[in-house]
Amino acid sequence: MSVTVFLLLVALCAQGGNGQEGAETQRRGHVSVIIVGGTGDLAKKYLWQGFFQLYVNQAGSGNTFSFYGGGLSPADKATPVLFDNLKAVNCSKDVSKERCALLKEQFLRLAKYRQLKTLEDYQGLGKHIEQQLQEEGMTEAGRLFYLSVPAFSYADIAEKINSSCRPPSGAWLRVVLEKPFGHDFRSAQVLASQLGNSLKDKEMYRIDHYLGKQVVSKILPFRIENKKFLEPIWNRHHIERVEIVLKETLDCKGRISFYDQYGVIRDVLQNHLTEVMTLLTMKLPVNISNSEEVLQNKLQVFRFLLPLGKDQAVIGQYQAYKSEVQQELNKTKDHVSLTPTFAAVLAHIDDPQYEGVPVLLMSGKMLDERVGYARILFKNDVFCLQNHNSVHCKPKQIVFYFGHGNLQYPAILVSKNLFKPALTDNEWKEVTEHKDVTVLGLPISDYYVQTPIQQREAYAELISHIFAGDKNSFISTENLLASWGLWTPLLSGLGSSFPRIYPGGADNGDLLNVQVKGKDISYISKEVIIGLDQMGDTSARGFQVMQGKFRSADMVSAWTEELVERLAADMQEAAETAVRDGGVFHLALSGGSSPLALFHRLALHHFTFPWSNTHVWMVDERCVPLTEPESNFRNLHDHLLQHVRIPYYNIHPMPVQLNQRLCVEEDGGAQLYEKELSKLVNDSRFHFVLLGVGYDGHTASLFPGGKVNEHGKTLVALTESPAKPHQRMSLTFNAINRAHRVAVLVMGKSKHEMVTQLSRIKDNTTKWPVTGVKPANGRLVWYIDYDALLG
Ligand code: BG6
Repeated sequence: MSVTVFLLLVALCAQGGNGQEGAETQRRGHVSVIIVGGTGDLAKKYLWQGFFQLYVNQAGSGNTFSFYGGGLSPADKATPVLFDNLKAVNCSKDVSKERCALLKEQFLRLAKYRQLKTLEDYQGLGKHIEQQLQEEGMTEAGRLFYLSVPAFSYADIAEKINSSCRPPSGAWLRVVLEKPFGHDFRSAQVLASQLGNSLKDKEMYRIDHYLGKQVVSKILPFRIENKKFLEPIWNRHHIERVEIVLKETLDCKGRISFYDQYGVIRDVLQNHLTEVMTLLTMKLPVNISNSEEVLQNKLQVFRFLLPLGKDQAVIGQYQAYKSEVQQELNKTKDHVSLTPTFAAVLAHIDDPQYEGVPVLLMSGKMLDERVGYARILFKNDVFCLQNHNSVHCKPKQIVFYFGHGNLQYPAILVSKNLFKPALTDNEWKEVTEHKDVTVLGLPISDYYVQTPIQQREAYAELISHIFAGDKNSFISTENLLASWGLWTPLLSGLGSSFPRIYPGGADNGDLLNVQVKGKDISYISKEVIIGLDQMGDTSARGFQVMQGKFRSADMVSAWTEELVERLAADMQEAAETAVRDGGVFHLALSGGSSPLALFHRLALHHFTFPWSNTHVWMVDERCVPLTEPESNFRNLHDHLLQHVRIPYYNIHPMPVQLNQRLCVEEDGGAQLYEKELSKLVNDSRFHFVLLGVGYDGHTASLFPGGKVNEHGKTLVALTESPAKPHQRMSLTFNAINRAHRVAVLVMGKSKHEMVTQLSRIKDNTTKWPVTGVKPANGRLVWYIDYDALLG
């Protein structure tokens, strides 16, 4: 009898195995589990334990298993390391000693190390699995690859799995990926599309281990179970603020090579804390097990989140971090890292339910305690003249306590002056015996407390979901990109900011305490401890705005964030002057990626801008429906218009779609736009035109080699772009050069070469259309950030 079949029989005879979760829905048979990176740290700490638990739970289910630890080292070196890790696995308390020993022995016998480096190694593994199945006459249920390796190798490994390790039809393939999934929106998109070349969406399981934490996965069910109490108060009229906090006492030693590239925002806020925020604020799904509905409701939160700028974040770095970086990355003593190890970020959800409710996300290393929680603090309209200890006078709050801290166990706490939560889940219990502890300002006896009957590790929980093929607790591509869409502008804005240095532990005192004012967050104490040595060679990093000349016009230059701030201020000044003088401000805006940072800034500070007197026009548009992601109007809408209070009739999208077709000359879209602007804009002179410049020197949709000089007196024309979508509608030089003020915004290192060329060449509108921008009776200002100007 083969080892596998023998072990299956032993498992069948063993008592107590349950864990049939989801297994009924898929074919039973043999499952190969391959942890690529099986001798690594994560595998040692959590993964093998999680798979052992799966094995124990599956005993008697009819499934059989093989486990492979894969790695780059040859087998003779790595096998002992793997087995040291495997021997450390343990059973939960409900499994008897004898049974546990038996299961552990079986588990060890089913495990092997395999070198997985080259394509041949993967082919060898594929053949080995087939051979084993054949020899033992087993049906294959599926193959589960867990990639516990650096993310740069994901695409390559996925390709190898796809080409040589796919199971035959009828059996499933599941590939599990650990974060980081990119370091910004663009890289996440590239990684997603590379993976998409080898794996189907349903085969990918992106892990965020917070979704496996019992309290986090209980947030939605809790909101549903207590809907009758929560629905009336889960809104801006009752919620004072939301805090989502992960405090850690550990430093980053041993993982600086990873951490220094990512920092706390990418490591924790973009994923774990953002996921918690969406679970707390999303619309409740009608059917919680419908992953598509859950996803759509989550995505809706992102749509309403106000953009995050520099004023919505404070960052810090623990003092010893600098020398840890110097040591682990072999850097000299004057090397400075700006990577934050602490961040507090203030988010706002701009919809009728949560408008004005501050949502604070905070995390840091080397803080005073290890604790994670999400707190919903409610407004308290009770005024207590006396007897402040009476229950009505105390804070009203719900705390989702992930673990550690004073309490030491995961729990959901509802202060007694709110309501008594329902308890319908038989895996949870109410705690009535309390130690003498305080949680977020309230003695534990002031709360109703619920906790899981049995505590389970997040990884073990998620592994059981993967095995069941249940995708609800994993990060889909859309979800991932929406989250990076929120965080990327903040991360680029913070690029050149100095984190506040903090000593670490209890000594931090109130150095990291923050205050919220309107939409902005700042440290309470203004004292900033940055030693000169902390600044390194930063002489070029002044924060001042520089003024000068570029192509004989005025130029403003600064680091990106300051530049955008300055442009927004200049635009606002022009708006206020125009409104004061004539009651209206006509603004024409370009598409492309450069203006997005400006749109975010304008959206955040929309209260003081005279939006109700502003008319927004388009500089150019792509010939696609306005609802397409490629449409300039769609971008303008998503990033600016939907966040500001502008009358609908002041918005003027270009009519690229008439008679149910796109940009057809006879439909006269360009003439229509021209007519509208001649009618509404005095002398067809915009007050402010915002332009960008492409790598090829194009501006608006006036491209090199196009007939840009042949538009004559026309104000709007159909044009051709060399890039897709080819057809465009654009303001002409005539329209642009009539304006009172024209701003050309150029940002990013990748534009440096073009800026250098532009600074040297003479006017040549056919080759470099932007050189044709010369307002006749207006002012031209170039806004160029230091990256584009100095490279
Ligand atoms: C990980 C981060 O994802 O989460 C770590 O990379 C962090 O930096 C950890 O320490 C926190 O997880 P937990 O489960 O300990 O709260």
